[in-house]
Amino acid sequence: MHKSDNSKTNSSIYMRLLGYTFQHKIIFTISIFAMAMFAITDTAFAALIKPLLDGSFVEKDPDTIRYFPFVLIGLFLLRSIAGFVSTYGIAWVGRNVIKKIHQEMFEKLVHMPTKTYDFASSGELLSKLTYDTEQVAEAATKAITVLVRDGLTVIGLLGLMFYQSFILSVGLFIIGPVIAIFIKLMSVRFRDTSKHIQKSMGYITNVVEELIAGHRVVKIFGGENSEKKSFSYVNKNNRDRHLKLALIQGISIPLVQFIVALFLSTIIYFVTSDGYLEVISVGTFMSFITAMILIFAPIKRLAEINVVLQRGIAASESIFNLLDSKSELDVKDFTKKEKFNRDFLKLNFNNINFSYYDNDNLVLKNINFTVPRGSTCAIVGKSGSGKSTLMNLLPRFYDIRDGSLTIDNTNINSLSLKELRSMIGYVGQESTLFNDSIKNNIAYGSLESKSMDEIKIAAESANALDFINKYEKGFETFVGDNGVLLSGGQRQRLAIARAILKNAPILLLDEATSSLDSESEKLIQNSLIELQKNRTTIVIAHRLSTIENADQIIVLDQGIIKEHGNHHDLIKKDGIYSKLHKIQFSVSEK
Ligand SMILES: Nc1ncnc2c1ncn2[C@@H]1O[C@H](COP(=O)(O)OP(=O)(O)O)[C@@H](O)[C@H]1O
Ligand SMILES: [Mg+2]
Repeated sequence: MHKSDNSKTNSSIYMRLLGYTFQHKIIFTISIFAMAMFAITDTAFAALIKPLLDGSFVEKDPDTIRYFPFVLIGLFLLRSIAGFVSTYGIAWVGRNVIKKIHQEMFEKLVHMPTKTYDFASSGELLSKLTYDTEQVAEAATKAITVLVRDGLTVIGLLGLMFYQSFILSVGLFIIGPVIAIFIKLMSVRFRDTSKHIQKSMGYITNVVEELIAGHRVVKIFGGENSEKKSFSYVNKNNRDRHLKLALIQGISIPLVQFIVALFLSTIIYFVTSDGYLEVISVGTFMSFITAMILIFAPIKRLAEINVVLQRGIAASESIFNLLDSKSELDVKDFTKKEKFNRDFLKLNFNNINFSYYDNDNLVLKNINFTVPRGSTCAIVGKSGSGKSTLMNLLPRFYDIRDGSLTIDNTNINSLSLKELRSMIGYVGQESTLFNDSIKNNIAYGSLESKSMDEIKIAAESANALDFINKYEKGFETFVGDNGVLLSGGQRQRLAIARAILKNAPILLLDEATSSLDSESEKLIQNSLIELQKNRTTIVIAHRLSTIENADQIIVLDQGIIKEHGNHHDLIKKDGIYSKLHKIQFSVSEK
């Protein structure tokens, strides 16, 4: 039961991979044809031994003696050409298939739901894109070449041997199934082991990435030993997995070879035994022996190729799992999607309950409030109270299952993701920058077409122009991986400039000034206030002084709206907000 399931999924994986290959039908067919030619030349060579010996040496036929060298040269010329065409052709197909799969994987990642990103480790995803695709490339090129070229060679040579000696067919039917069953058994082991190897590679990249990203924390908090320990664990695990594969590989290949050798010796024994020699000429016998010798290498390669093939299958499975995973839920029927109304009156959060997992562990409970157009709504609360979660619902980073978010009467789920997100400007706690110039980081994505003047104005409003101009290359300065060449405050100001440039009607600020010192925060605060004008803003602030003028303040505690009103209402109420305010005020007084 289990086995047939396995082979069924296996064949569907093969078929799917072949589907990619068939997009290059012509080159693929030419390569396969060249492989067949190659196989034929091998068989032909063995077959030619018979006329060579019987004709040239035994009967001394002058025609055979004269033409034979030319036939041989022609044969090997054909063999060289066929060898080249098949090797290069199949590599061409393989690399094109990988290019396509790479592209599809990346496009999948771009549209992958935030939730899937939360659960996947970046090391695992990276190893899918790099290691797994290379395994597929190898399977697609090396394996097909060996399977077809060597497979056909073996068939051709077997046919020749069969034709020349009946005894072979008897041996064939005994030995064939034995080898087949053996290979089948091994293949299951191979696949399981290579799956583990892929995982263990992912673990290694994970640990290394963590160290690279967090080396400062590691150094300050003396985490060197525990990091080394984690690494030595995953490292040992990786070695063990590889060694297990090597063990299976090491045992299986010699064993197959031994079985084949046993079989061949038996054949030789029978052919050379007295009664048989009488009905077989020297030429036939030598031709038969040549075929036997020639068949050895392809059979060996065929036995080895199973490792590559199974590795490729395991890798394809992992790739296809990613390709088949769900993309972000967009409007299903684009003809029915609704238009975003820029002149909307209000955003409504209606009875929203939210949990990250499908269980009762609610992160947001019974959220109800309304943000009128052009007003500012501030969310405050302890860390972990659900502020970011609440904000992330609006651009549909996560889907609301219970309750709804509407713009006037339009449910945000009925807008296309693209349209909805085009209406939202966002500055987060961590400012994401790309390894590109300052200019391209501000005018990112859909903002590409903005003019240099607009970019400059945006940079100026974000108080970024001064530091940008200090660079020799100005706006063309590269910022490094995720902006490592800039300070936290500079990064943040570029992120704000990006939001200013987008000029979207809705603005989300999630602790946007948290990485700034109070001096630059004050500067930016002014530009943020400017930015909020005529815009519907939801702001999460870590310093309460920055939101005193908000039209409404929502106090979240463990996912519940505990207090709701403006600054004066909440101070008068003398509850959580007023307490938080007093604490911060006394701290900033000192
Ligand atoms: N991606 C996530 N997956 C699962 N749980 C999460 C995720 N993000 C946040 N949480 C949990 O949801 C709760 C609220 O988090 P968050 O909205 O980030 O709080 P805040 O922004 O107020 O600090 C926390 O308990 C946090 O552990
Ligand atoms: Mg947060």
